[in-house]
Amino acid sequence: MELRETEDQKIERERMKEAAGKAAADALVKSGIKLGLGTGSTAIHVIRRVGELLAAGKISGIRAFPTSFQSGMECERLGIPVYALNSRELGGSLDLCIDGADEIDPENRLVKGGGGALLVEKLAAYASASCAIVADESKIAPHLGTGFPLPVEVIPEARLSASRALEKLGASVVLREALRKAGPVITEHGNLLLDVRFREPVDPVFMETELNKIAGVVENGFFTRIRPVVYIARGDGRIEVRE
Ligand code: A5P
Repeated sequence: MELRETEDQKIERERMKEAAGKAAADALVKSGIKLGLGTGSTAIHVIRRVGELLAAGKISGIRAFPTSFQSGMECERLGIPVYALNSRELGGSLDLCIDGADEIDPENRLVKGGGGALLVEKLAAYASASCAIVADESKIAPHLGTGFPLPVEVIPEARLSASRALEKLGASVVLREALRKAGPVITEHGNLLLDVRFREPVDPVFMETELNKIAGVVENGFFTRIRPVVYIARGDGRIEVRE
């Protein structure tokens, strides 16, 4: 049974997200870098902190690449200069990417995509020389694949065939439905999201590659080929930095 968060717990979790976001931005964001900015309710605190640092003149010359519409709009609001990844200014690579995660295992491997932006988030993370993840302690998991559902982005035509292939791998599959819009979530690239839960823990390194072999799968939410530094905000106010 899922226990509902109380208002106090929500406020406390928001405080932790903000603390993790600020700590990572303060420690890692330097003037002049090409910076990937992640998506979600934790990564948005990184963006806000970068905005504050720029406004205070503590850093300058950032070239940012937001990983979603949400992050792009926040950059726009704060006056953070954004560029396309293919632009001359970024040239298809980043120095640092800071993002949130849905689950983090003991080896800092991740499940991402709860916010539906996994495709560009993975592009940014894998095009970046270094990565940092910001999270509150609820994101720590002993293993991946059986807890938070793994998002798999598929082209619309592959909805049923890819679902069957995923079920054959020992997973239950749910098409992600939109809120306040009838029908499924449509990603920023016009695709669908299948939320996949394996019955047994899986090897995320193997599965990250294996799932992308299914016809019609565009990308999946296992992130195992980066070695991020992870900023975890603890309930007692500490920020644990896990390399
Ligand atoms: C967005 O698609 C995701 O990968 C987010 O980074 C992840 O879901 C974490 O989001 P929250 O910080 O909102 O929990």
